[in-house]
Amino acid sequence: MNRTFSLALLFLLTSNLLAQEPATQDRPHRPRGRRTMTPMPSYPATLDADGKHVNAHGGCIIAYKGEWLWYGEARPHFGFTSEGVSLYTAPIGTQPVSAQDTLKATPLDLRWKNRGVVLTVVDDEGSPIERGCIIERPKVLYNERTNQFVMLFHSELKGRGYEAAQTGFATSDSPYGPFRLHHVQRPNAGRWPADFTEDDIRKAKALNPADYPEWWTPTWRTAVEQGLLLAKDFETGQMSRDMTVFVDDDGTAWHIYSSEENLTIQAAELTPDYLGYTGRYYRIAPGGQNEAPCLLKRGDTYWLICSGCTGWTPNEARMFSAKSIQGPWTQHPSPMQGAGAQRTFEAQGTWIWNQSAKEGDTTALYFMADVWVPRSLANSRHLCLPITFEGDVPVIRK
Ligand code: DGJ
Repeated sequence: MNRTFSLALLFLLTSNLLAQEPATQDRPHRPRGRRTMTPMPSYPATLDADGKHVNAHGGCIIAYKGEWLWYGEARPHFGFTSEGVSLYTAPIGTQPVSAQDTLKATPLDLRWKNRGVVLTVVDDEGSPIERGCIIERPKVLYNERTNQFVMLFHSELKGRGYEAAQTGFATSDSPYGPFRLHHVQRPNAGRWPADFTEDDIRKAKALNPADYPEWWTPTWRTAVEQGLLLAKDFETGQMSRDMTVFVDDDGTAWHIYSSEENLTIQAAELTPDYLGYTGRYYRIAPGGQNEAPCLLKRGDTYWLICSGCTGWTPNEARMFSAKSIQGPWTQHPSPMQGAGAQRTFEAQGTWIWNQSAKEGDTTALYFMADVWVPRSLANSRHLCLPITFEGDVPVIRK
């Protein structure tokens, strides 16, 4: 092949692939640094009982009445929009069907039954879940007080890329759906973080984005840590993108999400019905640029495992610990160890799956992750790795 022809071919291939991703207005959400193309999936498909790959991404697995419920993004084969949230179920305690070594069996080896799309996009113009929207990282909680299943998800509006940065709330009386959209919102409009002092508030109020036209400078970074972007969104509510949920031992439910233009994680307390916010929230690693939060609690320590922000491209995981959700949080090295650890084994975390039925038992935890295939998101692979502890520190090996 002559050189001009090779270059033209390379240009055509790369421009076509990159053009499929929706444009985002938000600068940090765009992958920074060198962008590498994702190779074809290096992991096998996860086959359901019908022999089809499980199309449930960015999701969660919860136990309910003798069944595992796996909710996740129902993604199209092409493009970056959503079809809704799908559900797969498997009986708890059954033998894995495909693991060669049953002791190493993970959720991926169960016989998952496809229960269909339980929250579907709609054709109503202007609906937050109008066909063409983006629904990411759905997480479902059962609320004992209201006897309802509540789904929280990252909600983006049709045709607006990732700029809306809202949380969607949907409910159902049954785990099998259908879930109905309750509302979408940004968290905690008009509220400062619970641990902000009068002095912190005064400093944050004085910050003006117009004074920081250039990003990534040391002064800009200090301003972000002091609440530059938090203050920008004070009136309209905090941005919320990649997310997880966590119910603490005292029954308090938390929504943990990437906020402030993906630069800061926030943990916001949910109301007792899980359908809104109490107004109490805390910031984690301000300015740290973390996504894909996954939270576990072991003993009296909370461990937060995140990714960095490089779009669909894998990166090195980050880990933080604290004795309380309100912090202070301490950063640790990535929990991933062994070959491939630096790119989180090509995956990005989505959920900590607790295989033990006993409350508070953390002897069988798994790190669930997606191996994204942006050219065909439905075909993104699943990775599920056991979490072990060395001393008290989580370690994840492939
Ligand atoms: C990384 C996030 O973790 C994914 O959920 C998705 O939002 C992609 N970014 C989009 O680029």
